[in-house]
Amino acid sequence: MSQEEINVALLGFGTVGTGVYKVMQRQKPEMMQKLDVSLNIRYILVRNVQRHMDKVEDPEILVTSFDSILADPGIDIVIELMGGIEPAYTYIKSALEAGKSVVTANKDLIAERGGELIQLAEENHVELRFEAAVAGGIPIISPLLNSLAANEIRSIMGIVNGTTNYILSKMTDEGMDYQEALAQATKLGYAEADPTADVEGHDAGRKIAIMATIAFHSRVTFKDVYTEGITKITAKDIAYAKALGWVIKLIALARNTREGIEVKVHPMLLPETHPLSSVGGSYNAVYVDGDAVEDVMFYGKGAGEMPTASAVMGDVFSVARRIKDHCQGSTRDYVYRNIPIKRVENTRSAYYVRMRVENKPGVLATIASIFGNNSVSIEQVIQKNKIENDAELVIITSNVKERHIKDALLILESSSVVRGKATMIRVY
Ligand SMILES: NC(=O)c1ccc[n+]([C@@H]2O[C@H](COP(=O)([O-])OP(=O)(O)OC[C@H]3O[C@@H](n4cnc5c(N)ncnc54)[C@H](OP(=O)(O)O)[C@@H]3O)[C@@H](O)[C@H]2O)c1
Repeated sequence: MSQEEINVALLGFGTVGTGVYKVMQRQKPEMMQKLDVSLNIRYILVRNVQRHMDKVEDPEILVTSFDSILADPGIDIVIELMGGIEPAYTYIKSALEAGKSVVTANKDLIAERGGELIQLAEENHVELRFEAAVAGGIPIISPLLNSLAANEIRSIMGIVNGTTNYILSKMTDEGMDYQEALAQATKLGYAEADPTADVEGHDAGRKIAIMATIAFHSRVTFKDVYTEGITKITAKDIAYAKALGWVIKLIALARNTREGIEVKVHPMLLPETHPLSSVGGSYNAVYVDGDAVEDVMFYGKGAGEMPTASAVMGDVFSVARRIKDHCQGSTRDYVYRNIPIKRVENTRSAYYVRMRVENKPGVLATIASIFGNNSVSIEQVIQKNKIENDAELVIITSNVKERHIKDALLILESSSVVRGKATMIRVY
């Protein structure tokens, strides 16, 4: 016999929590047809009831203590939308232990303690879902776990942070410099008051750690991810890239190689023809390469109230169906390999190097010889623009080990021919 009512509790009533409430209201008339069960919000956990009274039809559902939710045996699904590690971790853990399924959008928590929580869900025969934690409204966790399950995933490459993509798009399309584009992103609400997690690549780092774990069946946490943000990208680099038919994007990349898992976030020059190059503004996309499917790309809104609520509710519907059919407990730890993480120094790429150099004969030969002595060959010397008494040089290297280019740049920067620090950006 199937259950007729499924009751949920929302923890947190901010941007995504409000979106989930609205989607639930919108979907109410069709809920029975879609799920064959009625889905009710019984509680919303907030810190201050007064502040949220006018957002709900029935203010009685607003509570300030998690204990009443935990103690209520009628609550089947807990939807965690508070963010951060604590108290989210403790609440999710106790909900799972109490036999309640959990849906969360919390990337910080899943990237750090996802493995432990998945095992806990498995032990307690309940569900733990987190589709919204990776790319907002874009379905990617479920496709990796289900639709692409028969593939050996070779790589995942994504634009998974809308704030940085908005900033880089403004710099590319309107010639803005970084500070100007960041100020506009902040004004429009795309960037938070403290934009560090976005602009330094930490947010994208958490998302790629989650995707890499699922795709390669080996635990990858945020601390394994090499991160480099967009703060050093200048309008000049964007202009050089544009002139060469390239676009600069903040790329989250995970590759399963013979020497281990490469997992990093950094700006990258992509050819204008690459599918990720046309992902503009606050949009996100994830490009997956599997041995059977080959290339597939997932594209859409990676954040925001309603797109994120769409992903959360997709998980809630899926869990509700399992509860209705009495087959909860499908969450399994998909980690069965222990692949080492490859140090970024041992990864390979072509590099774009821009530097200010002494403007006199023989300088290029000196630079070429320092590169050569460090196993870095030059593919192209692109520009040589005069700046006061110096020259600006843009060099593209061939595909080389990261430690070799870094060694070469250290020597160059301490030599008499190079002025100041060089800019280095990886090339696709
Ligand atoms: N926003 C997006 O587009 C997006 C996209 C993907 C994933 N996510 C993830 O979704 C989660 C929620 O994000 P959000 O943007 O909705 O955040 P938000 O707008 O800051 O909302 C968080 C809400 O949780 C409440 N809260 C925090 N700690 C609480 C506690 N101890 N008890 C009760 N309520 C508490 C906050 O209450 P106060 O109002 O009292 O502070 C706030 O209303 C995060 O994990 C985030 O990473 C967000």
